Amino acid sequence: MADFVGAIDQGTTSTRFMLFDHGGNEVGRHQLEHEQILPRAGWVEHSPVEIWERTRSAIQATMNGLGLVSSDVAAMGITNQRETTVVWNRKTGRPYYNAIVWQDTRTDQIASALERDGRGDVIRRKAGLPPATYFSAGKIQWILENVPGAREDAEKGDALFGTTDSWLMWNLTGGVDGGGKHLTDVTNASRTMLMNLETLDWDDELLGFFGIPRAMLPEIRPSSDPARYGETTMPTEFRGIPLTGSLGDQQAAMVGQVCFAPGETKNTYGTGNFLLLNTGTEIVRSTNGLLTTVCYQFGDEAPVYALEGSIAVTGSAVQWLRDQFRMISDASEIEGLARRSEDNGGVYFVPAFSGLFAPHWRSDARGAIVGLSRYSNHSHMARATLESICYQSRDVADAMVADSGAGLEALKVDGGVTANELCMQMQADILGVPVIRPRVPETTALGAAYAAGLAVGFWSSTDELRENWHESKRWTPQWSDERRAAGHADWRKAIQRTLDWVD
Ligand code: G3P
Repeated sequence: MADFVGAIDQGTTSTRFMLFDHGGNEVGRHQLEHEQILPRAGWVEHSPVEIWERTRSAIQATMNGLGLVSSDVAAMGITNQRETTVVWNRKTGRPYYNAIVWQDTRTDQIASALERDGRGDVIRRKAGLPPATYFSAGKIQWILENVPGAREDAEKGDALFGTTDSWLMWNLTGGVDGGGKHLTDVTNASRTMLMNLETLDWDDELLGFFGIPRAMLPEIRPSSDPARYGETTMPTEFRGIPLTGSLGDQQAAMVGQVCFAPGETKNTYGTGNFLLLNTGTEIVRSTNGLLTTVCYQFGDEAPVYALEGSIAVTGSAVQWLRDQFRMISDASEIEGLARRSEDNGGVYFVPAFSGLFAPHWRSDARGAIVGLSRYSNHSHMARATLESICYQSRDVADAMVADSGAGLEALKVDGGVTANELCMQMQADILGVPVIRPRVPETTALGAAYAAGLAVGFWSSTDELRENWHESKRWTPQWSDERRAAGHADWRKAIQRTLDWVD
């Protein structure tokens, strides 16, 4: 019996391959960044070819580093940045255009037109999503309308659409030469604005709204699939590994955090933040600006749904301080800088670089720094940046409490920013509940590995997975209720200024 399960984590800024043992412990990894292509204000692109090359290299480096062969790996899962849209040619394997990233706002006009004539309500009801630049459908429409030949090829079934899971699956299973498999899973499909949450199939009315031919869409499969999506034929030296798990990265983190029961919730701190609440087999509609999405589907079991609060810019605000604002030279410096002052000195930073996502859904919003005085310094700005991560999470947590009617007792967290102890303490202070980090912080890759391993019997049940979850650190709130309320009131004023700017 093979000792390990592998997971590809294709994220917004990098791609990694990781291997896990039966206890859910990491045994090896390799991670490679890819270029962020920013051709104009609001546009964000990636090279799909670079992403595929990085994925292959990450698998090779991890496997070779441990001296492993294919038969050491029981199964492989994929998890990915969701919504990011690739359209490629079935016969040449070449993309028609760069991947249009989830943060890209070029489809603002497409999204606002949907809102004006009532189609928005149909999308909300059928797909569980508000019309926004965030999701894939508008991005596909943009490619079909702007790249010569793309629409014609899409109608013939030669131009294929996929989120990056599909793109990688197609290449891993042979691509052009080996008849690559054109598949996606229910969680990724639920982020396109094209899948009906009840039927779990592409919806003709929704396809019609965007002029998207069905022939270009992948087959939708469960997130954990004993019938296998396929086997690796690439990289050639690691052929024959069963591909049996696939989920969008935030849903994968729910699985990695073993949030299998209705009411369980987690917040992932990456480029953006994504707070999800398991609502069981029930489709819960938000009246407070959250999304309804598929959380996971294991084999032929009923799908499990979630409410989600998506925040576009959190960790990437720290990257912006480093790359554009040049206030720090390494992201890890922000914690030390923020610790130099006791509080934010009255400064609030709203990093609305991709508009504002949940719970506001305002594609047109732009960022703001408010409350500046002659006293303000780098340390206040560092604090305001970390607080912006926590206040945005507070806003979606409040929306979740309002939608579900149940209070939040504690918050499970994961993702890169959770290494920042000060930020996690701020999160507990701003939310007023304990914040808990698990022992394995790589819950996204772990979730994809779990989905893959469950399908081949490497793990027997979700109960077995629960036993692998251990708390590593807990932060408890230290602010008084008065301080918490006053800080949040000021933050809400800063958000309002951001919206006033564009109104
Ligand atoms: O919806 C976008 C999300 O999936 C991106 O996650 O971790 O790549 O920033 P991440």
